[in-house]
Amino acid sequence: MSILNLGVLASGRGSNLQSIIDACAAGLIPARVAVVFSDNPDAYALERARLAGIPAVHARVGAFYAKEEYEHNIIHILTKNNVNLVCLAGYMRLVGTELLQAFAGRIMNIHPALLPAFPGLHAQEQAWNYGVKYSGCTVHFVDEGMDTGPIIIQAVVPVREDDTADHLAARILEQEHRIYPEAIKLFAEGKLALAGRRVRILA
Ligand code: GRF
Repeated sequence: MSILNLGVLASGRGSNLQSIIDACAAGLIPARVAVVFSDNPDAYALERARLAGIPAVHARVGAFYAKEEYEHNIIHILTKNNVNLVCLAGYMRLVGTELLQAFAGRIMNIHPALLPAFPGLHAQEQAWNYGVKYSGCTVHFVDEGMDTGPIIIQAVVPVREDDTADHLAARILEQEHRIYPEAIKLFAEGKLALAGRRVRILA
């Protein structure tokens, strides 16, 4: 089986990036992180990449004439590094048409709630404030909407009677670190079949 080249886009601390780097290094998934890109020069994700010997590139959207130019630059970085699958890991921007078309069906995202509930920012807090008994996380393919693409896998995290929003978020994060590498592994093994909104996991 050939190795899948991943391009990870991250804007912040990069703990999901780390879980992907670690899973690759441990040989749990037939993939390697080929490049990390951030729209935030101060993202700790960039430091994690450097520590792992992975090319780390950053560019602020404001440095470009238009969002299309910014995305062309990302596409250039990804293709230069032979990326087959793009993984959004705490990437705080909506993906535009340019990037979506260049990597159609090959962009994933992780979201810290059971979609379609609580899309957008601060999902763990939204779920907590709503008073749900179960929340969790979702890995999905990316489309033009905000956290609306076809769902690949989800993990359920029960809310405890003595919970706090922070404790709940921490338990959700643990599950994120488990299911994101798992989704990438399924993709790498050719086991994800997309039919409309449904992603079938092949045996
Ligand atoms: C995670 O909760 C992820 O689900 C969301 O943004 C957060 C990123 O965290 N999309 P990290 O940068 O991976 O630590």
